[in-house]
Amino acid sequence: MRISDTLAARLKEFGVELRPSVPLSEKTSLGIGGTTDQLLLRKSETIPDVMHLLANENIPHRFLGGGTNVLIADDELPYVVLHLPTSQPGMRVEGNAAYVDAAADLGGMVTFCAKRDLGGMEGLIGVPGSVGGALRMNAGAYGTQIGSYVREVELYRASTGKLEILRGDDIRFDYRHTSFAVEDVMLRVKLELPSKPFKEILALIKVCNEKRRASQPLNQKSAGCIFKNPPGGSAGRMIDELGLKGHRVGDAMVSDRHANFFVNVANASCADMLRLIDEVRERVRVSYGVELDNEVIFWKN
Ligand code: EPU
Repeated sequence: MRISDTLAARLKEFGVELRPSVPLSEKTSLGIGGTTDQLLLRKSETIPDVMHLLANENIPHRFLGGGTNVLIADDELPYVVLHLPTSQPGMRVEGNAAYVDAAADLGGMVTFCAKRDLGGMEGLIGVPGSVGGALRMNAGAYGTQIGSYVREVELYRASTGKLEILRGDDIRFDYRHTSFAVEDVMLRVKLELPSKPFKEILALIKVCNEKRRASQPLNQKSAGCIFKNPPGGSAGRMIDELGLKGHRVGDAMVSDRHANFFVNVANASCADMLRLIDEVRERVRVSYGVELDNEVIFWKN
């Protein structure tokens, strides 16, 4: 999707920077995704005006955070992509509260808080992505989920068209799912974290890092787990039991390290990855009678 020069000039008045024809394969951890114009939102206070303008001009848009849990279609995309710049996102601590911008790196936030003797989030250390993406998905690992610590979220709320602050109690955080609307844009979060000496936090972080290194293909292009775990079950174990590790469609492959990670071994297309996902889902359905739900978010074109 292309933004006209006239619209680009109007967006610039709201502090929006246009980057034309960006290959989104460079913005996602899977290394997959077609091309479109990217709009960098440099002033969060103008987001309602920007959204209003895009709606009036009938410009379809999506919001891309860290790009670590998304599978984006190939070729020219019929929507523009909005992004909050990630250089120097704000993070500060006051007592047991941490105030963090959504554009911050999730692991960076865990370390920042740890150095100030605030723990609880050790399990999240190796989860790639932005704080905003983690909030939206209620990211979790090793018994921790971010939602447990959220006290307030500042966001652009699509239903009202305004910037708002939601109390943690008014947000539902379920397994890899929240009550935020798809079009909401996370801006900032206030977390309340337990006090813990840095050394203790560091020891737990090390344990989680080792577990992750031992079981997940961290050096390959992936979007983490492809499927959610079914209630009481493990998608990875079922796919492994079916002998599908290493199974390929083009350059998309079931990881030979963790069967719920699907990796892009070279130049996989979105079509390859989708076929692999469908084939594996079907094999699990036939053998186990379980219909696996995607954990990765799919953006079609
Ligand atoms: N297993 C196998 N073969 C495999 C993979 C796993 O037999 O190829 C078995 C393991 O031996 C274990 C069980 O399946 O007994 C569960 O595996 P694991 O501990 O790796 O956890 P998981 O349920 O596959 C979940 C999250 C991960 C998170 C880990 C650690 C989901 C879908 N996945 O994986 O999150 O890192 O626990 O807490 O909830 C993600 O969300 O993208 C993600 C990677």
